[in-house]
Amino acid sequence: MEKVFLAMMVTIIVVTIVVKLLKCILKRSKKLVVTQHVESPTTNGLYKFTIVEIENALNIGNMRRRKWIAHGRRGEFYQGILPSGQNVAIKEMHKTKDAMDSFTREVECLSRARHPIIVCLLGFCNEDGKHFLVYEHSSGGNLAQYLIREDTILSWDVRVKILRDCASAFTYLHNYIDGSIIHRHIKLSSILLNETLEAKICGFGQSKMLEMKESKVGMEESKVFGDVLENGIYTDPQYKKSGLLTCATDVYSFGVIMLQVLSGIKIPHFDEDARHILLTKAKNVNSGKLPMSEFEDPKLKGKQINVEVLKSTLQIAVNCVSETREERPTIDKVYEELNNTWRLMTNNGWPINVPPRHV
Ligand SMILES: *[C@@H]1O[C@H](CO)[C@@H](O)[C@H](O)[C@H]1NC(C)=O
Ligand SMILES: *[C@@H]1O[C@H](CO)[C@@H](O)[C@H](O)[C@H]1NC(C)=O
Repeated sequence: MEKVFLAMMVTIIVVTIVVKLLKCILKRSKKLVVTQHVESPTTNGLYKFTIVEIENALNIGNMRRRKWIAHGRRGEFYQGILPSGQNVAIKEMHKTKDAMDSFTREVECLSRARHPIIVCLLGFCNEDGKHFLVYEHSSGGNLAQYLIREDTILSWDVRVKILRDCASAFTYLHNYIDGSIIHRHIKLSSILLNETLEAKICGFGQSKMLEMKESKVGMEESKVFGDVLENGIYTDPQYKKSGLLTCATDVYSFGVIMLQVLSGIKIPHFDEDARHILLTKAKNVNSGKLPMSEFEDPKLKGKQINVEVLKSTLQIAVNCVSETREERPTIDKVYEELNNTWRLMTNNGWPINVPPRHV
């Protein structure tokens, strides 16, 4: 009798322990499944803000008012402050299909592309049908504003450094491991400057990733046919005609940026005649038909400009804006040359009033 009782007790205890263990294991695996669902594969661990966190960041100061920074085609930019005290720029997307596409592209692209010269996307929010993007804040404004400002003039060495840094970021994008990332919307105003005049490339709402690269094999670049994106004076004419997107499309746009930065002439976004005039002048100066002084920014009054550097940089820019993509250099080549130029400038003891870069 006692033995039977003992056996029963042991059985009950063992069963209880086994049931408890099973429950525990089940609970754990459930938790695992749940977290896997929350982590969306395309956002690569970007922080997902709640709408309350966004509202708190947006409502600044005692007045609890929003501070508007800029208007974009697909959203409005506001200044924000995170609980850590960090200043951020918050973009509230418009409620159009176009804006939603742009939101998805930015999240997908900027969650992967991390580079000191590319604006850092800190997180996003999509809740209650509202969409926000949260970026690091660059208080210096954009390059387009700098070229028309009269109060502060970008010095020659800062201009060369900005071009070299941007080329390094595009080199990173075009050689991205999963396939070339084409920005497609490079223009002066998509290059922001922070307090120390370091460039930060933004505006990735139109970016496209090309198939796994064949581009390393000879001249053959990865290509994609699709809707041609109108980008004003920065639109690659060959892309416009054929609809064939390659890395050379970005190289053309970058060439148009280089010409404006070197000459200090900002041409209106949709003024194709002004572009034609600038390009023709650049080609004539480059081939020696016009003197180099024709291309110097009068605001720099000749003194600050290193003419040798202007010559070699102009040559690169003119190659970038070649009509056909076969004639254009790869962005790797552009970066290599700008990097060399920059090194020569710094080694020759040119007055560099650029703070040291911490990468
Ligand atoms: C400006 O950008 C550079 C390069 O990313 C960075 O090292 C530097 O800390 C930034 N400066 C400020 C004031 O944020
Ligand atoms: C850029 O220049 C630095 C020296 O200033 C050098 O160490 C680096 O290898 C260069 N990179 C390229 C791609 O030329």
